[in-house]
Amino acid sequence: KNTSTLFQPLTIRNVTLRNRIIVSPMCQYSVAPSGTDIGKLTDFHIATLGHYAIKGAGLVFIEATSVQPNGRITPNCPGLWSDEQIGPIKRVVDFVHSQGGLCAIQLGHAGRKASTVAPWVASKYRRERGYGPGSVRSTSDVGGWPDNVVGPMGGEEETWDGLSNAENGGYFAPRGLTLQDIEELVQDFGRSAARAVKAGVDIIEIHSAHGYLLHQFLSPVTNRRTDRYGGSFENRTRFAKEIIAEVRRNIPRDMPLFFRVSCTDWLEGSEAEKKFGGSWDVESTIRLAKELPDLGIDLLDVSSGGNHKDQNMEDFRKKDYQTSRAGRIRQAIRKEGTQLLIGAVGLITEADDARELVQGAEGGNLAEEAQIAKELTQANSKDSGPKADVILVARQFLREPEWVLKVAWQLGVEVAWPSQFARAKFSLK
Ligand code: FNR
Repeated sequence: KNTSTLFQPLTIRNVTLRNRIIVSPMCQYSVAPSGTDIGKLTDFHIATLGHYAIKGAGLVFIEATSVQPNGRITPNCPGLWSDEQIGPIKRVVDFVHSQGGLCAIQLGHAGRKASTVAPWVASKYRRERGYGPGSVRSTSDVGGWPDNVVGPMGGEEETWDGLSNAENGGYFAPRGLTLQDIEELVQDFGRSAARAVKAGVDIIEIHSAHGYLLHQFLSPVTNRRTDRYGGSFENRTRFAKEIIAEVRRNIPRDMPLFFRVSCTDWLEGSEAEKKFGGSWDVESTIRLAKELPDLGIDLLDVSSGGNHKDQNMEDFRKKDYQTSRAGRIRQAIRKEGTQLLIGAVGLITEADDARELVQGAEGGNLAEEAQIAKELTQANSKDSGPKADVILVARQFLREPEWVLKVAWQLGVEVAWPSQFARAKFSLK
């Protein structure tokens, strides 16, 4: 009998995940940088994402996909700013569906962290071009757009490290977005979402984490605008909320919408925080989270960091550095009755940890889960229950595409294996 919430289905609006394990969005830097295939997913995506679906993942994410050409993280990242980019996404989605899986796409814009290169290219350039150790830039000769990098604020000071690029080869100095640029961006998020619907995706996620454009607006460290998009919490969150509303307007009412946030800049007590009069932290995230359901967000995907070089992630090697914060946020919003699902991500590699994170969460068989939750609370009264409703896993899937099947076996849960692989099935005692 399956007593693991992890392997119980979860219904969000009209979509039912077969389990609570999601393949987290991962850039593959494998898309054509220019020409007619610019921004289009390839057979590589069908092979990799398709394989996760074959091997039982509840939901498979297509990586950060940009709503404008200059919002790509690297020239080899995908986009959805044109109708021509729909077809290749549909091929991936159709294949995932053919394997009984579900497919989501993450829509975003890299803002001041755009026009970089894939990690393996960065190391090559450091060797060959003498770039500094922090260098990630993609110059125009290799497909980059140094003159068209944008952010909430403009100028050298707004690069990641605030130093001249000529000297260290870091990020490019952005141009500050005008009110008209902002309006166009909001609309482009909506247009890309409509294209994603045409491509057949089941779920859309808005990328507001890791120091990319939406996060840049949220944090006072990277947003010191003096218009209605900067200053107060209300103003700094306005851009994200307008995007959420526009995306919601462009997708079916019964399609789930996720929002990925960096729950903290990791700048508490830092010089940067003092200099800029605050940073984005867990409290800010909780405050925003409470407003999300009314805007049409179903799930908050809790990541962290990526917005400032002084981030202090000293405990980022502890396995719960991030998932514990997801738990704090879930507890805080549930206490007030906020109906928002929480996704936990970061360093999840073991079956028992995966199980424990979501054990007792609602959905699926409610009666059974209430009983499990009760038993769990009695067994460990210190534990306040589930930390999340779903888990997202990135690197472990790169190591073990069959991780879902292994976890099921380790937890003693019977799951279907694809017929073609059935002769290799782990057998339950
Ligand atoms: C990532 N990550 C990431 N996150 C995101 O929101 N959009 C993205 O496109 C990417 N791209 C990406 C590529 C690669 C190769 C890795 C390893 C990671 C972050 C990822 O989704 C996840 O949040 C972190 O990797 C932490 O989870 P794990 O790896 O500890 O399970």
